[in-house]
Amino acid sequence: MNIAVINGTEIKGCTYHIKESFLEILRDGNEINEFYLPKDLPHFCCGCKNCFFKGEQFCPHAEYVIPIWESILNADLLVFASPVYALRTTAQMKTLLDHLCVHWMVHRPDERMFTKRAVILTNAIGVFNGGAQKDIATSLSWLGVSDIKKLGIGLLEGVIWDELSDKRKNIIIRKVKKTAEKYKKTCISRKKIKVSMKFIISKMMHQAIAKKEKTLSADNQYWVDKGWIKL
Ligand SMILES: Cc1cc2nc3c(=O)[nH]c(=O)nc-3n(C[C@H](O)[C@H](O)[C@H](O)COP(=O)(O)O)c2cc1C
Repeated sequence: MNIAVINGTEIKGCTYHIKESFLEILRDGNEINEFYLPKDLPHFCCGCKNCFFKGEQFCPHAEYVIPIWESILNADLLVFASPVYALRTTAQMKTLLDHLCVHWMVHRPDERMFTKRAVILTNAIGVFNGGAQKDIATSLSWLGVSDIKKLGIGLLEGVIWDELSDKRKNIIIRKVKKTAEKYKKTCISRKKIKVSMKFIISKMMHQAIAKKEKTLSADNQYWVDKGWIKL
């Protein structure tokens, strides 16, 4: 199995230890490709829209974004690990998600995303992980991923891993490893109704717009080339 891991922080703290515990169960026989943000994508989306109108290779940050996107496409399992910052995911994680908007269902989705499984690992000092998880899950769903598992950890005792009690660390590690056990077998996810609906609505939208266009937009040309719409 091929696993792509996106780390929403470079700090080797709680997020790192939680993610390492998860991967420990899956290291044997699997290929793991990891990215650390912001190191591996140090630029915000600047809003040039080159990706939408010309192609993603014209993104000024393509040298960073394309290797991450290719690793995601080649993976069977996607792991997103993020601390909760201000009740949301980190800005660097959001920056990656912004750069991937061009592959949302309403633009140029890749059908390889439809069969992938994804796990979102978040942690917070408190218990509110939902906002950060939703930031990532919303993007994944619009990118076409159906099988999205969220695991949110409330650290409760502090924010420094080495300062958590052994008891608390063991509870967290056990919980994370138990979730990882479910991903030992390579498994292809089925497209769920929510993702199918997004595809059907996008298809109708592209079909209607393409018929009126004298010169096809990059998005509509893609849908025609894929054989998903006809002129
Ligand atoms: C800037 C910043 C903002 C944070 N915001 C929240 C928050 O809103 N709610 C919360 O429960 N924890 C918050 N935390 C704690 C983190 O979610 C996380 O649990 C902590 O940083 C430990 O993970 P790390 O070692 O990987 O950084 C914040 C931490 C930082 C550094």
